Amino acid sequence: FNFGAAPPLPVQRMGAGGPEEEYRIALDVQGRAGGDAGTGGGGARAAAEADYVSFWERQASRLSWFKKWDRALDWNPPFARWFAGGTINASYNALDVPAGKDPSRTAIVWEGEDGSVRALSYGQLLDAVCRFANALLSLGVGRGDRVAVYLPVVPEAVAAMLACARIGAVHTVVFSGFSAAALRDRIDDSGAKVLVTADGCLRRGSVLPLKRIADEAADGSAAGSLERIVVARRMGGRCECPMRDGRDMYWDDLAAAAPASCRPAELDSAHPLFILYTSGTTGRPKGVLHGTGGYLVHVHSTFGWAFGPAAAAPGSVFHCTADIGWVTGHSYVAYGPLLHGATQLICEGAPDHPSPSRMWDMVRRHRVTALYTTPTALRMSMRHGEAAVGEGPFPSLRLLGSVGEPISPEVWRWYFERIGGRRCPVIDTWWQTETGGMMASALPALESAPLRPGSAGPPVPGVDLRVVGEDGSEAPAGQKGHLVAVRPWPGMMLTLWGDDERYRKAYWSRFAGAYHAGDYAVRDEGGYLRLLGRDDDVLSIAGHRLGTAEIEAAIATCPGIAESAACGVPDEVRGEALVAFVVPRAGAQADPGGMRADVSAALRREIGPVAAVRDVHVVERMPRTRSGKIMRRLLRAMACGEEAGDTSTLEDGEAVEAVRRALRRGE
Ligand code: WT7
Repeated sequence: FNFGAAPPLPVQRMGAGGPEEEYRIALDVQGRAGGDAGTGGGGARAAAEADYVSFWERQASRLSWFKKWDRALDWNPPFARWFAGGTINASYNALDVPAGKDPSRTAIVWEGEDGSVRALSYGQLLDAVCRFANALLSLGVGRGDRVAVYLPVVPEAVAAMLACARIGAVHTVVFSGFSAAALRDRIDDSGAKVLVTADGCLRRGSVLPLKRIADEAADGSAAGSLERIVVARRMGGRCECPMRDGRDMYWDDLAAAAPASCRPAELDSAHPLFILYTSGTTGRPKGVLHGTGGYLVHVHSTFGWAFGPAAAAPGSVFHCTADIGWVTGHSYVAYGPLLHGATQLICEGAPDHPSPSRMWDMVRRHRVTALYTTPTALRMSMRHGEAAVGEGPFPSLRLLGSVGEPISPEVWRWYFERIGGRRCPVIDTWWQTETGGMMASALPALESAPLRPGSAGPPVPGVDLRVVGEDGSEAPAGQKGHLVAVRPWPGMMLTLWGDDERYRKAYWSRFAGAYHAGDYAVRDEGGYLRLLGRDDDVLSIAGHRLGTAEIEAAIATCPGIAESAACGVPDEVRGEALVAFVVPRAGAQADPGGMRADVSAALRREIGPVAAVRDVHVVERMPRTRSGKIMRRLLRAMACGEEAGDTSTLEDGEAVEAVRRALRRGE
C-alpha cells in the first residue's frame, strides 16, 4: 500500500439534492482509524484503467507460481482463461507459503455451537490437509475428480476443500441446510466420487444427523458415481452414525494411516478448483465452475484491498460469518484469509443461538479486528435490542463489512455507530457466486474514497461495471438499469458445469458483449453503485438465493396441488420472505392448514430448511397474462397489500378477485 495524507473523519456533507451522507475514514498500517491512510488506490485505479490485463498480471505476481504464465488472458467471449500456461496450486499458496513464514501462527480458531473451541496453526492445518489429501489419493481420487463436501462450519470443511485443491480434485460443497434430495441432485450432477460429511452437527440446539441425510442422498443417487463416504466425527458419539462396510470410513482413521506430507499438484491456471451450485431462473440449480489461477488472484487481491492490515496484520483476527456452503465461505473463509496468512475465527451454527448476543460475545472474546457479515444478521441483532449487543462499541474492531443483500442506510448507520463506534469503515461489498470475488465496494485499506451508506461503492480496480437500460445502452447517472460487467475479470467463472450453452445463454445473451449479473442498480454522479434487487425470478431470503422455479418444482411434488407460484415479499429481518400461492388439484381436499403443511414439508424435503415458507395461500386459479404466464408481479404486489395495479394484460379479471379472497382468508 502507498500512504498519503488523509482527510479528517468522519465528514458529513450536504449535497444539493438533499442530505448526502458520506464518511471518510483514514486507516493506518495496522488498519486502525486515524492514521496516515492507505491511498494507493488512486494509482491502482489509474493503472488498471490504462491496461487492466497488465494490472491483473501485477496482482498475479504476488502469488507463488510453479511456472509463470505465457499469456495473461485468453479471451474467447464468453470464455476467459487467465494466466494461461502458468501452473499453480491453491493449497500451496494458502498453507505452505504462510506456514513457511511462521508455522505456529494461528490459522483458524473454531467455535462450536456448544461453546467448544479448537485452534489450528498454519503448520497443523497444513499437516491435516496433507494427510487428508493422501487419504483421498488412497481412495482413488485423481485430478479433475469431484468430491462433494456436506459439512457444517468445522475446520474439516476447510481442510477437505484444501485437500482437494492440493491434488487437483474439484470440490463441490453443499450447504448443510440442504436436504437429502438437494444433496443427491448435486452429487449426481457433478458426478462426485467421494462424499465427505460428519456424523452430525448442531443447529439451533438440536442435532442434525448429517450422515443419515447423506445415506439417504447416496441411496437415492441415480448416477452411480459415488464410491465412498468419509465421515468426520463432530459429535463424539452423541449422534448415531450407521457405517456401511466397504463404502464408509472415518476421517480420523484415514488421516492416521496417511503420510503427513503431500506434494502439491502443479496445476494449470485454468484447472477447475470447485463447483458451487446456485439458483437460477429454471428449476435446476446451476453448477458454477471456477478455475484456479484467476480465482486465486481475484480473491487474494480483493481480500487485501477490502480488509487489508485490519484483517491480516500480526495480532489481527478476521471473522466472516458465512457458512462454508456459500461462495462467501469459499472466497473469504477457505481461501482469501489463508492466502494472506491471516488468523480467522469461524463458527458453527447461527449468530443468534444459543443467545442473541452470540456473534457479539465472540467478537469481544476473540478480539475480532475485521468482521464480515450480512445485513440479515445485523437486522436480527437490531431487533433483539441493546441487550444482544451488550457493552459497546468494540475496541478491537477496525473494519466492518457487509455482503449478500443491500444494506439500508439505517442498518449501515447502526453498524457504523453502535458496533464500530464511528471509528471503523463499513464496506458494502457486491458480488456473486459467479464473479468469484468482490466486484464493487469502497476499499478503505487501499484508497481513501468516501463511504456512502446504502451504496456498494465503485467497481473494484480492474473491473468495469456499467448500468444499462433495456436496450443495452448505458443508463445516465441516477437512472435504474441492469448491472453488467463489460470486460473479463480474473475471478469470473469458467462456465457452468457440463453446460457451456447454458452459461452463454444465462449470462451473456441478454446484452451483447456484456456479463448480465441479474441485479438492478443505479450509478450516482461519483460512480458509486446502489443495488436495487434482482431483475429475474430469483429470491434472496436471508441473503440466500432461491429461484422461484426451483421452489415451484418442489411444491409440484405435493399430490394435492395442481400448480403454484412463489414470490418474495419484504421481510423486516430476512430481507425477503417466501410466500406461495397454490391451486388445489380438482377433487383434492383444499383445507388451507393441510396445504400449508404439505408445502412446508415438500420444500423441506426437496430443498431443505433454507427454503422456509411464510405464507401459503390457496387460490382457485392463478392470474395469467393472455399468453398464459402467471403474473407473479401482481401476486407479489397483492401479497404485500398493495393495489393490483395495471391488470389490463390479464386474461381473466376474476382471478384477481380469487387472490383477494385467498389473502383475506389468510388473515
Ligand atoms: C446475489 C448473489 C456475494 C456473496 C453472497 C451472495 C445479492 C450480494 C450484495 C450487496 C446488494 C447483493 C445480489 C447478487 N447481493 N451482495 N452488497 N448489495 N445485493 O452470493 O448467492 O451468488 O448471490 O446476492 O442480488 O446478485 P450469491
